[in-house]
Amino acid sequence: MDEQAIQSNNTAYVICGFNDIQSKGAAGFHLMIIDEDGSHKPWSIVVVRWGRRVFGYVNKCPHKDINLDWEPNQFLDPAGVRLMCGKHGSTFELGTGRCVDGPCKGHALTPVRLTVLGGEICVTGVRLVEEEEEGSSVAS
Ligand code: FES
Repeated sequence: MDEQAIQSNNTAYVICGFNDIQSKGAAGFHLMIIDEDGSHKPWSIVVVRWGRRVFGYVNKCPHKDINLDWEPNQFLDPAGVRLMCGKHGSTFELGTGRCVDGPCKGHALTPVRLTVLGGEICVTGVRLVEEEEEGSSVAS
């Protein structure tokens, strides 16, 4: 990996304010990622906030590769302690993304690297299309 690529992957992309997601809440974001071949691909993620901690995962159930939320921003199980897939009800640990119940038990969500900088939740470790490049927002 060349120096420019390393710098790109260290870029922190702001997706929302830390307080935009309430504690014990989750929110989805539809972003656009830049692949290694330079192509742009939709990239949907879910961010969970638990007190002062945040966890991020690609919004794709390992069972059928579809979004977890059956309604926009409905990611948690009825008890509010696990992520849940709305299709067949698999549940996932918030801190690890590991499926602990349901048809994809033993599999896991793909983690997304997050960091909190200056009160904002940022994605790192990937290259995202920024607003100027696409003419549209990177976060919804
Ligand atoms: S698609 Fe998620 S549990 Fe089946």
